Amino acid sequence: MTVPSTTARTTAATNRADGVYRQPLPATPQEADRSLAEFPFPFPHETYRYSANVEPAEKLRRSAAGQWGETVIDIDRHYAAELREKDRILTVDPSRYVALPHMLPAEWDALLAVLNELAVVYPGSFTLTRTSTAKDGEDRKDSAGAGDSYHWSNRLSDPPVEQDFTVGDSSTLPCAPLEFAGRQVQEDIALLAERDGMLWGDSMVVTFAADWSPAFDAGMSFPEIHGPVPRVHEQGIVDRAQKFIMGLRPGQRFRRTNWTLTIDGRLDTGTESYPEWGPDRMSVVNGPLREVGDRVFLRVEVQHLIRLQWSGAVMFLIRTYLQPLSTLVRVPEWATRVRDVLAELPEDMAEYKGVHRTRWPAVEWLETVGGVDPATRPEVGN
Ligand code: HEM
Repeated sequence: MTVPSTTARTTAATNRADGVYRQPLPATPQEADRSLAEFPFPFPHETYRYSANVEPAEKLRRSAAGQWGETVIDIDRHYAAELREKDRILTVDPSRYVALPHMLPAEWDALLAVLNELAVVYPGSFTLTRTSTAKDGEDRKDSAGAGDSYHWSNRLSDPPVEQDFTVGDSSTLPCAPLEFAGRQVQEDIALLAERDGMLWGDSMVVTFAADWSPAFDAGMSFPEIHGPVPRVHEQGIVDRAQKFIMGLRPGQRFRRTNWTLTIDGRLDTGTESYPEWGPDRMSVVNGPLREVGDRVFLRVEVQHLIRLQWSGAVMFLIRTYLQPLSTLVRVPEWATRVRDVLAELPEDMAEYKGVHRTRWPAVEWLETVGGVDPATRPEVGN
């Protein structure tokens, strides 16, 4: 099989001077293989259908290229660049952080959970130090340590962050607690409150949305948030997922994956910036086939569900990974699996995911350049 070596190829598409960060193609075959080794390949089967696909977090998953999944928050070599991109997006469009006022205690809870997790899992890069305790010796079940003071040190971000803050006093942070948490990690974060037997997406900091809008969804119930998704309501998936999440006990952590296609390594494909990235899809469909491998990226979200300790809110972390098809085909069984899933995906799901046109150049490229046998292409399913 002839697979193109993934070198520092550059296309006009990935070098646009618009200030938007696009994940670069791997510079060397070794870099390509390292990124494949960590990639959460999302297709256990030849066909893809929606399900309430949850599993315990922190369980190591072996893949054809390596392994992933040992940590809840994942830091990789794109960390500093992705944090800069978050800052750019939040500056251009502050509505990517959105919160209902009653969520403030949950935001502090989430902030401490995120910072603590980083400090425990990556002690060489992050430190969270309690510098004073407000209520020494008292029963601390009332809140997430309101009045306690901390020092946060993030030596991985560029520039580094050194921040003192007091829990419950928002004036001690440069922005809201959830936004501050979101600015320390590559993950997007949503907080869900539980009331009237339902979950409500009442606070979010989301800069890398896959074709949805945090500002529009904020304050909606779990079933409303999933309103536009085909099939999941009549198949009972939304109800089952909501019941499962509401049954989580404090500290319990689960995860699931989701996927789509993204063009040119762009992370921000939120509704608000659609005019910027929407036309890229048609430029792939109408562009030369030889560019498709470098322009079409498999986009995988690893999503974590965590019941927070004090507030009882559920923290939903969405971590986005991008892999260009030109790199992915270095693992031949992945190339075939992606072709199979894309070619078979029912039209309503393909349309909802926004891949109903781009999947065909991707399939064709995988079969002509990527070494996948066209004779085994499945029919579109239903
Ligand atoms: C077990 C838990 C969950 C399941 C099974 C689930 C399932 C799904 C599915 C199947 C989709 C369609 C994805 C696609 O085709 O690309 C979706 C989309 C989405 N999910 Fe979930 N989800 C879960 C948890 C959550 C949580 C906790 C949130 C919190 C905010 C959330 C927010 C969304 C949003 C915003 C979309 C996009 C909706 C749109 O297009 O406007 N999901 N979900």
